[in-house]
Amino acid sequence: MVRAIDPAKDVDGFHPENVAKLALEDETGFVPCTPAGCMRLLKEAGVETKGANAVVIGRSMIVGKPMALLLMAKGSDATVTVAHSRSKDLPGICRQADIVVAAVGRPEMVKADWVKDGAVVIDVGINRVEDASKKSGYRLTGDVAYAEVAPKCAAITPVPGGVGPMTIAMLMKNTLISARRTA
Ligand SMILES: NC(=O)c1ccc[n+]([C@@H]2O[C@H](COP(=O)([O-])OP(=O)(O)OC[C@H]3O[C@@H](n4cnc5c(N)ncnc54)[C@H](OP(=O)(O)O)[C@@H]3O)[C@@H](O)[C@H]2O)c1
Repeated sequence: MVRAIDPAKDVDGFHPENVAKLALEDETGFVPCTPAGCMRLLKEAGVETKGANAVVIGRSMIVGKPMALLLMAKGSDATVTVAHSRSKDLPGICRQADIVVAAVGRPEMVKADWVKDGAVVIDVGINRVEDASKKSGYRLTGDVAYAEVAPKCAAITPVPGGVGPMTIAMLMKNTLISARRTA
């Protein structure tokens, strides 16, 4: 189905041609918006990725895999570990990380003792959890237990208000590029 989309208008970056370009480090392709937004956050926050140990939790085509490719690409130069539901000792893997990217879909899974002091944590997760105190009956939370993890971190993204707006910004950027190219 995704192949039906014109790669030049594939602003989500999901078409196989754009996936290949990302893997090939061909910058003419469209990069998926959420990982692109995470990379921009790291850049704007002045986080050194070169030689950093990065752990990406999640291997989806939308977030985890492209995030890993971007972090390991030339110029970013991180050493990347990709964890998933079959990974053993996830807390131990995370404790090695200078940069943790959580893209799992499990509310507050990443705990304080999973994260080393001074790590940078990017929380991609958006989870609805029941909350009777809210008019809607739910609140949004990330994959990271923010309140306990944040004091240990050099930097951390909140949910909501962290990665989500960056995804939208990157989508607008890709849309503008596509419009200019196809005009
Ligand atoms: N902020 C944003 O703009 C934005 C954008 C996209 C997605 N999201 C959010 O990000 C989260 C992930 O999205 P997604 O589309 O990547 O989800 P997905 O396709 O469901 O992938 C989740 C990944 O997490 C892994 N996983 C699940 N349970 C795990 C566990 N207990 N331990 C370790 N790994 C586990 C899965 O492993 P397996 O591969 O082994 O199943 C899979 O690779 C969701 O909360 C989603 O709402 C946010």
